[in-house]
Amino acid sequence: MSPTHHTSSQAEPLATVRILGIETSCDETAAAVVADGRIILSSVVASQVEVHTRFGGVFPEVASRQHILAIYPIVEQALQQAHLTLDDIDGVAVTRGPGLPGSLVVGLNAAKGLALANNLPLIGVNHLEGHIYSAWLYQDTDQKPASAPEFPSLALIVSGGHTELILMKDHLDYARLGATLDDAAGEAFDKVARLLGLSYPGGPSIQNTAQGGNPLAFDFPRAWLEDTWNFSFSGLKTAVLREVRKQEANPRGLPTQDLAASFQAAVVDVLVSKTMHAAKKFNARSILVAGGVSANQALRQSFALRLPSNLHIPPLMYCTDNAAMIAAAGYQRFVRSQRDGLDMDILPNWPLTETTRPD
Ligand code: KG4
Ligand code: ZN
Repeated sequence: MSPTHHTSSQAEPLATVRILGIETSCDETAAAVVADGRIILSSVVASQVEVHTRFGGVFPEVASRQHILAIYPIVEQALQQAHLTLDDIDGVAVTRGPGLPGSLVVGLNAAKGLALANNLPLIGVNHLEGHIYSAWLYQDTDQKPASAPEFPSLALIVSGGHTELILMKDHLDYARLGATLDDAAGEAFDKVARLLGLSYPGGPSIQNTAQGGNPLAFDFPRAWLEDTWNFSFSGLKTAVLREVRKQEANPRGLPTQDLAASFQAAVVDVLVSKTMHAAKKFNARSILVAGGVSANQALRQSFALRLPSNLHIPPLMYCTDNAAMIAAAGYQRFVRSQRDGLDMDILPNWPLTETTRPD
């Protein structure tokens, strides 16, 4: 426990719990310290994006080696920026899955080493649970803490590997309503960016290119998949490909801006409409949007227009992969006395719903 614990005989204030978070599930090496599951004391992210741009996507073997080089300096930096040492830390939370096996194993082994050497509890966290808990984070410099999502909360997770609608009735309680049947939303952004000759990662490229375009220029299909809470983006991707082929004969060149804007509008339309519909149907008291694609301005604006209150989307830098979100999720397990042993292994295909453990 941290040295700040009070020992007075009077009514004892709750001691601050500081969790060190570690995240290496894909191509970001990240470490962070979060107090009481919400207050970011530090968050360091080393992106490998420059290394992977050459390959037009994440190259797993290269990602793993980069994590090995970066992990300990990044943990060190996170502690320094928080003006803390490992003696001040109460537990180590680490992403256990889902993700790339060769990447996950680097963070997990580093976390085990730190936990063992410093006699700290170890907590394995689901990466998607981390994205969800990014909605609880705020900066220690913020004047007023942002309000926490109220339960039941309808969570839309949109990342490079996942598109899921989750109903959260309480902390750590996840019911999956639906998911993508093919490409994840972020994957669709990345693939369509490649079709349009835009750089990796595709999400930010499409967003920037779309700024100068007309979202109504092309009437791309929306897969509503009525009577289900599922999504599908592969038909949309194919429609963009067909349009690109057709436009190749265009003497003025490919209308990249209009294509990007129309594609983005189709994705946003489906994501926002289905989420709003589900929130109503399940009487959600809040909507929470997380994962890399939640950084998208058009998506954020569309949600904000349709839902002026009870909407929780993390600040931009906590939408994409980071370790503060892992520490925030780890905290929820820590305070419920959930611990993992040093024999914990990675779970590269771990569904979020299997993480629900009754107290
Ligand atoms: O959550 P994340 O950082 O990693 C995964 O867990 O997958 O999400 C990465 C995904 C990528 O597909 C990237 O293109 C997308 O998030 N993304 C965006 C934006 N920023 C990142 N998509 C749309 N608009 C953005 N501004
Ligand atoms: Zn992620």
